[in-house]
Amino acid sequence: MSQDLWTAVDEYIEKLLILPDSALGAAREASVDAGLPDIAVTPSQGKLLYLLARMVRARRILEIGTLGGYSTIWLARALPAEGLVVTLEADPKHFEVAQKNIKRAGLAKLVDQRLGPALETLPELSAEGAGSFDFIFIDADKESSVEYFEWALRLSRPGTAILVDNVIRDGEVENAETTDERVQGIRRLNEALAREARVSATTIQTVGSKGYDGFTLALVLS
Ligand code: SAH
Ligand code: DHB
Ligand code: MG
Repeated sequence: MSQDLWTAVDEYIEKLLILPDSALGAAREASVDAGLPDIAVTPSQGKLLYLLARMVRARRILEIGTLGGYSTIWLARALPAEGLVVTLEADPKHFEVAQKNIKRAGLAKLVDQRLGPALETLPELSAEGAGSFDFIFIDADKESSVEYFEWALRLSRPGTAILVDNVIRDGEVENAETTDERVQGIRRLNEALAREARVSATTIQTVGSKGYDGFTLALVLS
């Protein structure tokens, strides 16, 4: 089993199941051209976000970690005409690239971009009464995963689905001695999830063109 095979299978799936989409293609290309890290979700993962948001009939979506807006576009596409994605980003350059990508996709009306460290913008959202969100995608700095999860809970209602990206990191998540602070952040999240009676959660390992990683899905129960 190898990265080449995982990439080939992702390409095979994309060709069959993911329609070519100029706005998504342009967003990915413009992000890479602007020098943003090439770490957006893959096309098949983006479609998973879209399908999950459709399945919960999301009208209000919260995303933590916009990057160039690639995942934001997938999420916004899942919304009804009066829906909203609020997406949080700390890096002004990422914010600007995303703004252009979202505008080019014709989705500016459905997306509320907030610039600043999420641990500052989340309390602002809460103070505005911006909750509750139907679907929440956590995909920013992994060190703060527990804090983001706690904010996600505050901004949720019973039935909200919370998805967390990059929770496996080549299997390093299982290493209790890991010195990688991002992985330590995910391990703290897992311990919090294990204690948290208000959610039911599972984690699925994934392979694909982005390597070996995974998602955690949590359903808010009460
Ligand atoms: N969701 C995107 C990828 C996000 S990459 C996609 O799949 O298309 C992670 C993003 O989180 C980066 O753009 C990074 O700048 C941002 N980020 C890092 N620390 C942050 C913080 N403290 N607050 C908000 N965003 C942060
Ligand atoms: C990284 C961050 C991501 O959100 C991702 O999907 C892949 C990698 C990173 O910071 O390395
Ligand atoms: Mg990610």
